[in-house]
Amino acid sequence: MAMLLKILQFYGRFLLSFSAIGFWWRQLFWPPFKPDFSGQTWLVTGASGGLGKAIVQAAAKSGATVLAAARSEAKLKELVADSGSAGANIIPVVADLSLVKDTAAMIDKLNAEGRKIDVLMNNVGLLLDDLVLTAEGRETTFATNILTHFQLTERGIETGLLKPDAVVVNMSSGGMYNAPLLVSKMNVTDPKQYRGVFAYAVHKRGQAELTKYWAQKYRAMKFYVMHPGWAKTDGVKTALPRFYKILNLVLRDGHQGTDTAIWLAATKPNCEPGAFWLDRAPRESHAFAMTRITKNLPADLVDSLSKELAKG
Ligand SMILES: NC(=O)c1ccc[n+]([C@@H]2O[C@H](COP(=O)([O-])OP(=O)(O)OC[C@H]3O[C@@H](n4cnc5c(N)ncnc54)[C@H](OP(=O)(O)O)[C@@H]3O)[C@@H](O)[C@H]2O)c1
Repeated sequence: MAMLLKILQFYGRFLLSFSAIGFWWRQLFWPPFKPDFSGQTWLVTGASGGLGKAIVQAAAKSGATVLAAARSEAKLKELVADSGSAGANIIPVVADLSLVKDTAAMIDKLNAEGRKIDVLMNNVGLLLDDLVLTAEGRETTFATNILTHFQLTERGIETGLLKPDAVVVNMSSGGMYNAPLLVSKMNVTDPKQYRGVFAYAVHKRGQAELTKYWAQKYRAMKFYVMHPGWAKTDGVKTALPRFYKILNLVLRDGHQGTDTAIWLAATKPNCEPGAFWLDRAPRESHAFAMTRITKNLPADLVDSLSKELAKG
């Protein structure tokens, strides 16, 4: 009974806002918007499917040269082929971003090619029910949801891969409403302790806290963290099959889930550091009081991720 009440409360609170219904309603009030990204170079992670693919195609269609990073070369080739004339603006970059070594190699390669990034979309992310370790011994979702974003952003700035006035958009999730900032729960490698949904929430909260930290540290750049709403992607279908089936008719499409990412990159609005964007507006960063309670500061997270990267 308590569980049923919890579920009803959750959907009662978020269904309209996070589904396609929220997008349909809100977009009625938006002025016309036609972005032009000609001359810009973008780097999009998790680019061969789901929301990443929608971002790549929208940016490439609006004139950007897009470096599209994912693991599968075949899926990246399909992405180029599926993108019509915009396909000429898409450059596949094959990398397993759950590996520090691969992310480092990708940064080196892009620097060696003389790339300068105007927009970094830290999009890659996933939820796994069961604990899976990477070849480097890290919990896979930790490595994919936050460590690679941290590495790309920090090393990207350090090495000059990111332009001094670059825009960084971090793709978080409403899932972060379920966790406070908990540094000790980022990389849970003990199967008895691992809970996939909670791990995902912790990583997504971490992305928001990192965004706040970066926005205060690197003031010439723009840092945003956003939530796509609930979108119809393979990631959701695999991770949350019942949710996908029940809400299928009202899940967002790729355009609806990524409109805010494109809009942020185009309009670069001023906002509070770490403001949590959904549908072109900052929304509440905490939905429940308990997630405000933490002993950790964003700097503790930065310290912990830096130590993790130093291990290689
Ligand atoms: N969809 C939603 O409703 C929703 C809601 C809230 C937040 N989000 C967030 O939005 C982001 C995208 O989600 P999505 O639903 O579009 O995911 P998705 O459908 O699972 O797509 C994932 C993409 O990431 C790539 N990928 C996965 N692991 C990778 C790795 N280790 N290295 C490089 N690329 C990798 C996959 O391609 P390869 O297999 O070729 O590598 C694929 O292109 C995630 O951060 C997610 O948490 C989504």
